[in-house]
Amino acid sequence: MTGTSKETPAAPLTKGILLSGGSGTRLYPMTLAVSKQLLPVYDKPMIYYPLTTLILAGIRDIMIITTPDDKPQFERLLGSGEQFGVTFTYRVQPKPEGIAQAFHIAEDWIDGSPCALILGDNLIFADELEHMLRSAAKRPYGATVFAYQVRDPERYGVISFDEKGRALDIVEKPQVPPSQWAVTGLYFYDGRVCEFARKVRPSARGELEITDLNRIYLEEGTLEVDRLARGCAWLDAGTSDSLMQAGTFVHAIQSRQGLLVGSPTEAAYRMGFISHEKLLETGHKMKKTPLGQMLLHVAAENRPGKV
Ligand code: TTP
Repeated sequence: MTGTSKETPAAPLTKGILLSGGSGTRLYPMTLAVSKQLLPVYDKPMIYYPLTTLILAGIRDIMIITTPDDKPQFERLLGSGEQFGVTFTYRVQPKPEGIAQAFHIAEDWIDGSPCALILGDNLIFADELEHMLRSAAKRPYGATVFAYQVRDPERYGVISFDEKGRALDIVEKPQVPPSQWAVTGLYFYDGRVCEFARKVRPSARGELEITDLNRIYLEEGTLEVDRLARGCAWLDAGTSDSLMQAGTFVHAIQSRQGLLVGSPTEAAYRMGFISHEKLLETGHKMKKTPLGQMLLHVAAENRPGKV
């Protein structure tokens, strides 16, 4: 057996998968020639948002899984990771055979370490996001998922709770949802995740379901479900409506509050992954855009020696 046990101390979680394959059929014709996760959400490519989430969780070793056709474009956009002070490894998923397949594709790279997974079209905004992510990353044993109250739970994996608020069950896309709590596309797993993923069998729709992987932890009693509070926003930008909503949301916060949303450069700077010079360099490169201007503003506010 690899990885963590209750007796041995766990290695810190430093690895994360950014899963960006899929077919994006709900966004046709936009996704006929371009990957969904490269489409713009207001002023940035969609993948910048989940990438920012991984960086805020303190994750520096990131595997990007894409379709074979789209891999060159992701490499062109993101490169080695040096601009964000992280390391990217690229792999392909030949066919969209389920989210849990990521752990087959990445098994040798994970090598028994704990690992996070985020879906490339999931945008999470929360006041306490950094704190929440860091506590999930620090949990030494089991898995952590995040639940969010939605109007249309039947589109997602849905969690039911007992009267004490403990998770009872998770079901994938139930016709009659047992609650309004959907599981978001961000997951933290201990070092046994690949071993558990090998036990998952294809579902009726032929996919290796992430819900089935999560259920293994749930049945073992080691699935932690963190409920996102009311003020948080979780958006999956998988349809034209939600893509538009996500863009409007980002625009509203950035223009109204002057705060950057979903900037991996800013997150990397705040996490100490990149230097002040690197932040300035990226800001200058994009200085004709509001995004570049905001990066330069962050650099000015934090310039060395400023009191
Ligand atoms: P979905 O939105 O369920 O699927 P999709 O992206 O192919 O879109 P559509 O339903 O419109 O055809 O996928 C959620 C996320 O997970 C998305 O970022 C793509 C990713 N994904 C993979 O990378 N591989 C897979 O096998 C599956 C099922 C999803």
